[in-house]
Amino acid sequence: MRVLVTGGAGFIGSHIVTALTARGHEPVVLDALLPAAHPAAPPLPDAEFVHADVRDPDAVRSALRGVDAVCHQAAMVGLGKDFADAPEYVGCNDLGTAVLLARMADAGVRRLVLAGSMVVYGEGRYTCASHGTVRPGPRRAEDLKAGRFEPRCPDCGAALAPGLVREDAPTDPRNVYATTKLAQEHLAASWARCAEGRAVSLRYHNVYGPGMPRDTPYAGVASFFRSALARGEAPRVYEDGAQRRDFVHVTDVAAANSVALEAVAGLAGGTMTAYNTGSGEPHTVREMAAALATACGGPAPVVTGEFRLGDVRHVTADSARLRDELGWRPEVRFAEGMAEFARAGQRTSAEPVGPGRP
Ligand SMILES: NC(=O)c1ccc[n+]([C@@H]2O[C@H](COP(=O)([O-])OP(=O)(O)OC[C@H]3O[C@@H](n4cnc5c(N)ncnc54)[C@H](O)[C@@H]3O)[C@@H](O)[C@H]2O)c1
Ligand SMILES: [Zn+2]
Repeated sequence: MRVLVTGGAGFIGSHIVTALTARGHEPVVLDALLPAAHPAAPPLPDAEFVHADVRDPDAVRSALRGVDAVCHQAAMVGLGKDFADAPEYVGCNDLGTAVLLARMADAGVRRLVLAGSMVVYGEGRYTCASHGTVRPGPRRAEDLKAGRFEPRCPDCGAALAPGLVREDAPTDPRNVYATTKLAQEHLAASWARCAEGRAVSLRYHNVYGPGMPRDTPYAGVASFFRSALARGEAPRVYEDGAQRRDFVHVTDVAAANSVALEAVAGLAGGTMTAYNTGSGEPHTVREMAAALATACGGPAPVVTGEFRLGDVRHVTADSARLRDELGWRPEVRFAEGMAEFARAGQRTSAEPVGPGRP
């Protein structure tokens, strides 16, 4: 199968290219090599490469020639610097997706796997002893400043127990990036209906592993900790460190994309199906920092009480649908994955990672 991988020079995309090639498929990469994602020139993928923006309709039209399916990874990621980034996020992620889907409709390419995200859920799933499943609203700055990090029951103010989020949980994006990721799914669903397409959104949880971008405002938390340790400094953990996340290894995410690309043709036409993509092994951010510090032989994490508005407290996935319907199994356990990440490091021009490169 010939697969157009947008964002295929990025962290996750480059692992997808490797996984697709290993399964006998033919990836074609389209990537704009955004400076925010690639402060230094990245190694180019070991695949046919088109240096272009997904917002460029002509480039997308020619890249789609002979393509059976599209794996859409290109996006601006992370929380960004401030609200001034909003137009660029919406441009790359939503206008870009709209241009891609319009060209797919023209070209009759009807299979799409989208890089979704758990950020569409906002706060995860919580249970109140008196009120059952509840959805706490955004946390208030004054609570966070006072060290009250746990969301409370919106009905009675009681402490809540976090649970696993399923795909039918209501969506509630809490920042610009999350909003653009949710809009991508709605665009994909509209395209599927209008163009008899079949779409899958893999809602990745916190992806980590070799080739992860360095600690730019657009990077993930494991990157910040890894970079601090590389400088001989302690990882600085926000809030009280008890935020729960599902850290899923990038090779497992790449495998989920391969499985989804192979299965998408057999799914119901005209629909988009979302699948949580997590390891099923929730950990706190402090545990993650400690695992990296131990593996690096570096200083123990420092819990700072700082916070970022727009961060959610706990969000962990129930990935049973992806396991049961598509037969995917995550293979990298937390302890071994973090130890390997601590050794393997992040993406720079001097530290090439990517398809065909160790
Ligand atoms: N890393 C995570 O933990 C995580 C979690 C959930 C979802 N995701 C999603 O996974 C996908 C890949 O993320 P990543 O972590 O590999 O990020 P990344 O920044 O390493 O890769 C993204 C790639 O897309 C390219 N790109 C961005 N905008 C583009 C545009 N307009 N045209 C062409 N190319 C463009 C960039 O140059 C980059 O190479 C994104 O869609 C992201 O939203 C990532
Ligand atoms: Zn209650």
